[in-house]
Amino acid sequence: MLRGVSDDVTQALGAEQQRFEAALKEVGDADALYELQVQYIGKKGSVSKLRGQMGKLAPEERKAFGMAFNEVKKAIEAALEERKEAILGAAREADLGRVEDLTMVDTLSAVGSIHPITRTRRELSRVFRKLGFDVVDGPHVEHELYNFDKLNIPADHPARDMQDTFFVDGQSTKNDSNLVLRTHTSPVQIRTMLGREPPIRIVAMGTVFRKDDDATHSPMFHQIEGLCIDKGVTMADLKATLYRFVSAFFGSDLKVRLRPSFFPFVEPGAEFDMECPFCPTNEAGEKLPSCSVCKGSCWIELGGAGMVHPKVLQACDVDPQEYTGWAFGFGIDRMATLLHGVPDLRLLFDGDVRFLEQFPC
Ligand code: PHE
Repeated sequence: MLRGVSDDVTQALGAEQQRFEAALKEVGDADALYELQVQYIGKKGSVSKLRGQMGKLAPEERKAFGMAFNEVKKAIEAALEERKEAILGAAREADLGRVEDLTMVDTLSAVGSIHPITRTRRELSRVFRKLGFDVVDGPHVEHELYNFDKLNIPADHPARDMQDTFFVDGQSTKNDSNLVLRTHTSPVQIRTMLGREPPIRIVAMGTVFRKDDDATHSPMFHQIEGLCIDKGVTMADLKATLYRFVSAFFGSDLKVRLRPSFFPFVEPGAEFDMECPFCPTNEAGEKLPSCSVCKGSCWIELGGAGMVHPKVLQACDVDPQEYTGWAFGFGIDRMATLLHGVPDLRLLFDGDVRFLEQFPC
């Protein structure tokens, strides 16, 4: 009878061990392993419970069972430990093998660039400020009186034609005249003389509008106006200023030439050209006629200039007996294309980002 108990208990021990080993194979993580440990060798575990059966054994059998029990328990403990190491090792391996994407995501928005026209305007401002000129501004919508009349442009002048000028709905508050989109920056001459006492040295830059639209003309373009009013001012001052400006702007010693021309608001009037800074030269430093910018003429046309007409001075309450002055005006867009090597003026206004991206800040 006692012998039977011993056999049963020993068998049960073996069966538990086998069950444990089978269950251990299924264990995948540390939590399940712990569960298994509790289930078999925990205080109330199935193996631990068999130890309580010792009391039922004959004293001479207890030792053998005790040894068998300890062996099984040790084997289970060792298997648990081994498995625990394996699970922790695998977890460590997985942790080490983890590939974290450490790429810094660029959250900055795209950086813009400064439009060639704006750059050119800034550069012009810089150069003329250095030469002692103030930079002033004027409105785009202008009184016809300032855009034309006070500039000695008579009512029947072709510039007043609807073909050339954008007239704007509404009446000017000056002389019941019309409102126009300014066709040049010259009305800023008028505004400045009406608003300041001589001596005056200003440049004004900005957008002007004419009903032109072809390969070389845009209905919206940009001009710069220069005005100098003082006692004893002559054409020589005009030429010297243009020479200084052109040389400073293009960074080399460049000649300027004046050709007689007509603008109603200057007398004498002239067109002015600058020496081409782009002409290729031979070893002797002589310019070659193959230049694509000036087409071999060695001169680049810039704009109009001249001595401010006495009628214009009078229209602005400046005494022509006391003061003289000069004015010039030319297109900025041409300057920008020359400066930045832009082959077609229209590219400046297409708003194509791929074009603008070529001018990084
Ligand atoms: N306003 C003239 C134009 O647009 C240029 C100019 C300005 C001419 C000043 C003479 C003096 O063509």
